[in-house]
Parts: sequence; C-alpha cells; structure tokens
Amino acid sequence: MVLTVVSAGIFLLLRPVAKRLRRHAAALSAENIEYAKGVQEVVLMAEETEVFGASPTYLDAFHRQIDGIRRPMLRTRFLAQGVPALYQSIALLLLVLALGVITLVGMDQIASLAAVVLILLRAVTYGQQVQTAVSGLDERLPFMHHLADAVERYTSHPRQDGERHLPAVAERIGMRDVHFGYGPDKEVLKGLTFSVARGEAIGIAGPSGAGKSSLVQLLLRLRLPTAGALEINGVDAREFRREEWQRRVAYVPQTPQLVWGTVADNVRFYRPHLTQEDIEAACRRAQIHDEIMSWDNGYDTLVGQRAAAVSGGQRQRICLARALADRPEILVLDEPTSALDVRSEALVKESLHELKGTITMFLVGHRLSTLSFCDRIMVVADGRLDAFAPPQELLGTNSFYREVTELTRQQSGA
Ligand SMILES: Nc1ncnc2c1ncn2[C@@H]1O[C@H](COP(=O)(O)OP(=O)(O)OP(=O)(O)O)[C@@H](O)[C@H]1O
Ligand SMILES: [Mg+2]
Repeated sequence: MVLTVVSAGIFLLLRPVAKRLRRHAAALSAENIEYAKGVQEVVLMAEETEVFGASPTYLDAFHRQIDGIRRPMLRTRFLAQGVPALYQSIALLLLVLALGVITLVGMDQIASLAAVVLILLRAVTYGQQVQTAVSGLDERLPFMHHLADAVERYTSHPRQDGERHLPAVAERIGMRDVHFGYGPDKEVLKGLTFSVARGEAIGIAGPSGAGKSSLVQLLLRLRLPTAGALEINGVDAREFRREEWQRRVAYVPQTPQLVWGTVADNVRFYRPHLTQEDIEAACRRAQIHDEIMSWDNGYDTLVGQRAAAVSGGQRQRICLARALADRPEILVLDEPTSALDVRSEALVKESLHELKGTITMFLVGHRLSTLSFCDRIMVVADGRLDAFAPPQELLGTNSFYREVTELTRQQSGA
C-alpha cells in the first residue's frame, strides 16, 4: 500500500513536467513536418537556386528553418529522457530513506537484505542502459559514415570557378567538341560543336533521352563537359566568374517548381535586389499579371508545394516571370513534357515571341509547334547534333523534324 501511494504521489508530482513534454512534442511534430517539406524543397529547387545565384540567401532561409526545429527538439529530447530518470531518482531516494528508518528501528537484517537487492537491481538497470546506448550507436553509425563520405566528396571536388570578368555582352555562345557523360561508362553527349549569335532564338529538338536537358545543364554551367568546352565569345566559359554568369542567364526547368510563399516571393526567388516593380514587369512579360491581379490576395497569394491554388500552366508562367525578373541576357527554357492547357501554351508562346531578338534564347521543345518561331533549330539525336538549321530548311532535310511535324499536324487535324 505504501508503495502504491508513493508511486501515485510521485506520478502526480511529475504531472506538470509530463504535460510540458507533451506540449513540446506537439510543437516538435509540427516543426518536423515543415522541416521535411523544407528539405524536399531544397532538393527540388537545387537547379534553380544554383542557376539564379540564389544559394546564399536560400541557405540563410534554410538555416532559419533548422533553428526553428532545434529548440523544440532539444526540449523534447531533454524532457523525454529526464522525466523517467527523475521518477526513478525520487523513488530510489525514498527507498533509501525507508531503509534508513528500518535500520534505526533495529531491524538490521532486513535492511541489509533490502540493500543487497537494491544494489543488484541497480546493476541490472545500468547494464541494460549501456546495452541500449551501444545498439543506438550501432544504428546511427552508418548515417555518420554516409555524412562523412558526402563531406569528403564535396570538399575533394570544390566547385570550379573562373577569375575573369564576363565581357559586357556575350556576342557569341557556343560549344567546341563537347563530350559529356553522367558516369564513366556511358557518354550522353558525343562531340557537340555549334555557335549562336546574340539575340538568336534557338530551338532544341530531338527524341526523348537524346540529351537535350543535359545540353541545357552544360549551357547553364551546372555541369562541366568531360571534354571540349562551352565558349563565350570564343573563350572557355570556365575562365569566367560563375557569379557573373548566373546574373546573365535565366532558366525555366522541365519541371518548374514553386517554393512555399507568396507569388511575389516566388518571382523574386531570394534575390533581394529585385523590387516590386521588377516583379510586376516580369509578370506582365510572362502574361500572368492579369491572372494574379484577379486573385483575392493578388501578389500576396500563397502558393507552393502545398497550395493547389495554381494550375500547371500558371506555374510555368510564374516560373517564366521568375526567369525574366532580373532582365537576363540569355534565357534557357526546357519545355515541360506534360501538355499544358492550350491557353497557357499560347500565352507563353506569345511572351517568347515578344522577347525574340532582345535576348538570346534556347528553347527545348517537345512539341515542335513551340519551336516554329525560332531562328534556327538543333536536332539532337543520340547525343549528336543531327542538324542545325532554320525550321523551313529542316522540313526538307531532316527526317526526324519532318516526321514529328507531320505527326503534330495529324493530331491537331484530328
Ligand atoms: N542525373 C542523371 N544521371 C544519370 N543519367 C542521366 C541523368 N540525367 C539524364 N541521364 C541520362 O542521360 C540521357 C539523356 O538524358 P536527357 O535528360 O538529357 O534527355 P532529354 O533529351 O532531355 O529527354 P526528354 O526529352 O525526355 O526530356 C538519358 O539516357 C538519361 O537516362
Ligand atoms: Mg529533358
């Protein structure tokens, strides 16, 4: 009876602490969900944060998120370990006191027996704790190795950067005998050579898996050629500063992504120097301004992974606005493979038409209808440049281009 009463007493005594633990745990689980989404976003946005040179600002935002989870995590961990330990310690203290009383009363033998039992019990508990700690360590060790490997990989391959300032205008962009592969065994691009003049609109066509997106990644300097070089005004791009290149090029990826935030945040995209006027001007050019204004909260409308407020077509145009916001000199657009609604496609086409001649454009087109307005079209097949000519000429000379044009015509006819 004494034991039951004492246990209940300690339990009640520790109630407030336990309640506190529950509160912190609830806060932690909410933060954890946000954090997981944040991590997922970092992975999805990696290309764009890199291309737009947004990495330092993005990193700050991410670190704030980590700080947000750190406090509730530490509190929960501390209380989760602390409450049972406190309970045990109080119980033990009471037990020792009881033994003291028994000794004083003169029942020495019982007291010794109880003390031996108590010590044995404690020994077993400590042994168990050591065991748990060791298996916990074993469980975590592979993760630590993984991390150490990643750190080692990144530090031994520092990001290549050049010293030279980029010329005021990129008059010519091109590739000289560029080879590229993701691994040592398979070559994806096999000796590309071409040159593009300032203001040209270049279409990139070719079957799926031909290497179009890979070509785009090399143009953006996200990846380095294994042989040959990307050239700006005839000079190897590696010699120029990356940061300056990032300010000049803009990119709309094949799967455009929105970050969790307002429409304005998404267009600004961690470039604090962009003003509200820049953002609205970009949205006008991307033909999305009127639609944004028709939403209840306008530019403050929340969008992102968890908001279903925007359609695929709107998302693509917001990402186009993001690309145009810093007035790039070169625009690279990898057309989404999943069909957009007809109206969005027409709007994007219209804005690209308006931009034509003012900036150098590289457009990957999965449907050739998007490319018809280009000055010249590259047909990439199996990592090689199959043809590079104006669309009209390709109709006569390139079988891939002719076939796909025919197919599109039949489909739209049907
Ligand atoms: N990250 C990667 N790691 C390894 N291989 C890759 C990677 N990305 C692409 N590949 C391979 O490189 C080849 C070219 O891919 P790429 O994405 O450039 O094709 P694509 O022309 O853009 O195709 P699509 O029209 O379907 O977008 C493919 O065989 C693909 O499997
Ligand atoms: Mg692709």
